Amino acid sequence: MANKDLLSIYDLSNKEIRDLFKKAFELKNKKKYLDIFKGKTLGIMLEKPSTRTMVSFAVAMTQLGGTPIFLTAEKMQRSRGESIYDTSKVLSKYLNALMIRTFKHADILDFAKYCSIPIINGLTDYEHPCQVLADIMTIMELLKAKSIETLKKIKIVYIGDSNNIVNSLIAISAILGLDLTIISPTEYQVRSEILKQAVQYAYKTGSEIKVTNDVTAAKNADVIYTDVWTSMGFETEKAKRKKIFTPYQVNSELLKKVSSKCIVLHCLPALRGEEITVDIMEKHENSIFIQAENRLYVQKAVLLHFIK
Ligand code: CP
Ligand code: NVA
Repeated sequence: MANKDLLSIYDLSNKEIRDLFKKAFELKNKKKYLDIFKGKTLGIMLEKPSTRTMVSFAVAMTQLGGTPIFLTAEKMQRSRGESIYDTSKVLSKYLNALMIRTFKHADILDFAKYCSIPIINGLTDYEHPCQVLADIMTIMELLKAKSIETLKKIKIVYIGDSNNIVNSLIAISAILGLDLTIISPTEYQVRSEILKQAVQYAYKTGSEIKVTNDVTAAKNADVIYTDVWTSMGFETEKAKRKKIFTPYQVNSELLKKVSSKCIVLHCLPALRGEEITVDIMEKHENSIFIQAENRLYVQKAVLLHFIK
């Protein structure tokens, strides 16, 4: 049976992910399902800033005929100590689904436990499932891949901090059978429990997930993907991280080592001059903005899948 919530990529099966891509491409190519959510409301609860996730979910809900409402942390009684239990019980009476961006992954698990409506993870400190769905969709689009099978031959390299994006990227690669190399400094490597969980899927799908601190592992990459060195919530470590991550910058030196047709991706927001240089960002902005654009079609597909 399908899961009620999208808290982690692991809440989706291989088939459900493929169906989401199919739907997202269909929605990108044709205007469809215009009134399907008439009279329905999506709550967008943000405890951290957001541009893409917030706006794409709001626009997706609106274009499907529904209404998004914004629930910012400081305007809610949660900021004065109201429990997740009471908030969940009450919001389930008003809303048809709730997208949450929060700090602690444990909080979103509690919302999912107490809410009767679908909860969609719009980023926690642990996962960012909607982002990586758009990332794989973008790789398919840019490589003109008709199916996931075509992607099985390519080398996807992520370089930078092993954070929420990486955790979701590993999960989606393991489920779909894709090859992924994660290059991070020793101090910021992928957590062992993330790899342990992925191995169970990778074993069946043939996905090869490599984790290293060696930048030369980017050689022959077809896709290079990066994210900020300091994620939201880790700002006190910014100076220390900047020093450690400098050799892991996506710059022209690194790109000399990869395939000349290499696609560069960034989930955004980007800090030019830190994880990616100005020239590389400029050169590859087409793919990076298509990646951001595809968030909209993935969010629509996600809403259609989870809202009954
Ligand atoms: N990539 C992403 O989730 O962007 P926002 O933080 O702007 O939502
Ligand atoms: N890893 C980043 C992603 C932002 C979309 C963060 O958590 O801040």
